[in-house]
Amino acid sequence: MKQKLIDFLVCPTCRHSINVKIKKKIHEEIIEGSIICDHCKDNFKITNGIPRFVVDKTKDFVKTEAAFSSKWQKHHKNHQEKDWVDFQRKWFLDRYGWKTVKNFNKFLNTKTTILDAGTGIGNSAKFLSANKDAHVFALDASDSVDFAYKKYGKLSNVHFLQADLRQLPFKKSFFDYIYSDQVLHHTKNTGTSFKYLVKFLTKLGHISIYVYNKKAPVREYVDDYIRNKTVKMSVEECTKFSKDMAYLGKSLSQLKKKIKIPHDIPLLGVKAGEYDVQRFIYWHFLKCFWDESDNFERSVGVNFDWYSPKFAFRHTPKEVKTWFKESKLKITNFKEIESGISVTGQK
Ligand SMILES: C[S@@+](CC[C@H](N)C(=O)[O-])C[C@H]1O[C@@H](n2cnc3c(N)ncnc32)[C@H](O)[C@@H]1O
Ligand SMILES: [Zn+2]
Repeated sequence: MKQKLIDFLVCPTCRHSINVKIKKKIHEEIIEGSIICDHCKDNFKITNGIPRFVVDKTKDFVKTEAAFSSKWQKHHKNHQEKDWVDFQRKWFLDRYGWKTVKNFNKFLNTKTTILDAGTGIGNSAKFLSANKDAHVFALDASDSVDFAYKKYGKLSNVHFLQADLRQLPFKKSFFDYIYSDQVLHHTKNTGTSFKYLVKFLTKLGHISIYVYNKKAPVREYVDDYIRNKTVKMSVEECTKFSKDMAYLGKSLSQLKKKIKIPHDIPLLGVKAGEYDVQRFIYWHFLKCFWDESDNFERSVGVNFDWYSPKFAFRHTPKEVKTWFKESKLKITNFKEIESGISVTGQK
């Protein structure tokens, strides 16, 4: 944790000022210590260079985070590989309408305090840190921050924290850009978490989110049926199931066969057209992800990501637009794709 971070933190419980007791420091980096609230006296640890603000109050939360902690424990390396980072970056630029890194960096140059809510293993924090005059506060509730910190902790303007995005250790109206990609649908109530984040946005500040889109009705039905069982499985059991889904996805993919659907089938949410067999099954009937770059472990990780977290809500574009409207945000970019909805809004 950089010494500088202290200047920005407040108590996540009562939002009063905090004091930091340093036990171990290497140059400007605080490695061990504690953070104590001046007012309510709540106490948070700094261990292995990271301030830890997550409080285990609800079991639901712990289950979700345990799923992600074990996912990242196993899959952090394959998700920090260059081909995945490049693919995600390209996908990000497309979804949020920036198109090029240059456009996005131009936007970042207008920002000074950036929140990456649910950074995972930190790839997005790196991407958000292009403007060296801005501070990027990247948090995740799971142990993924340790991997993020190891890989990107040396970036001079990035701060990693282990925190719940629903209980932020920052003042209200503090961030001029909030980014929460593929995260909010994993919280107990996606809309409520979104509205909470907006309170931390400055006037004219921007917020970008991506949440899962509702899928075709049979896929939704199957997802509910399977997830109802998989969220109760042990990590080992769910990993085995996720592997089976990766094998299935791979076998279907290797068929390299296309099917033709002559007419729309509205009851199944199927549109007329030509489909690759794996894609057809994937989007309309069953999540069996297969990474086209042939990375088996990563495919297992993506399936696990879907089947293991306690919460993985899917939303309609209408719902998402309502959250923005109710939060008095003007939508500046909106893109719906089969998997999800990417939106940017301004306060
Ligand atoms: C699917 S990952 C996405 C990570 C990253 N944003 C990306 O796009 O690669 C979802 C992440 O959200 C985190 N998360 C879920 N609920 C959270 C919460 N309440 N507060 C902070 N992070 C949370 C999980 O721990 C997990 O790392
Ligand atoms: Zn306090």
